[in-house]
Amino acid sequence: MDIRIAIVTCSDTRDMTADEAGAALEELIAQAGWTRAGRVVVHDDVDEIAAAIVDAAEGARADIVITCGGTGLSLRDVTPEATRAVCDRDVPGIAEAMRAYSMTKTRRAMLSRAVCMQRGGTLVVNFPGSTKAARECWEGIADQFEHAVKMTAGGGH
Ligand code: MTE
Repeated sequence: MDIRIAIVTCSDTRDMTADEAGAALEELIAQAGWTRAGRVVVHDDVDEIAAAIVDAAEGARADIVITCGGTGLSLRDVTPEATRAVCDRDVPGIAEAMRAYSMTKTRRAMLSRAVCMQRGGTLVVNFPGSTKAARECWEGIADQFEHAVKMTAGGGH
């Protein structure tokens, strides 16, 4: 089954050429046999991040939008706020699973404010910004992506 996944990297310091975590996610999407439905780098700015999520969900018709970075405690970290601004429903289990898995890698995972929510039929998941952390979060939850997308489309178990 194909899944369309868009990547929105949120960073004040990275651009496309320096977006290592975004590139790693792109590779993981390809390895899974899924489609990259877009990849952008935006600043740590609520409006820019929110617009990129809407664009990926509606313009690029992504099933899943993975944001990358901006989930920590610094006052510049606003990715969860931008996600909430453009999404309707919480999907707390995915964020919980991501943190639980991440805690087996580093106790710093408890410092993540990441959320997972739905905007209409698009699932938006906040990943941390380091390449290592993004890979680990993928490892922790990507096995449930296909089922999540099927259920969103009205499929049963
Ligand atoms: N999750 C995993 N799996 N591995 C990590 O190394 N780093 C944590 C956490 N989640 C980490 C992780 C740290 S140190 C921070 S500050 C938060 O993610 C937020 O990261 P971000 O600000 O890059 O989004």
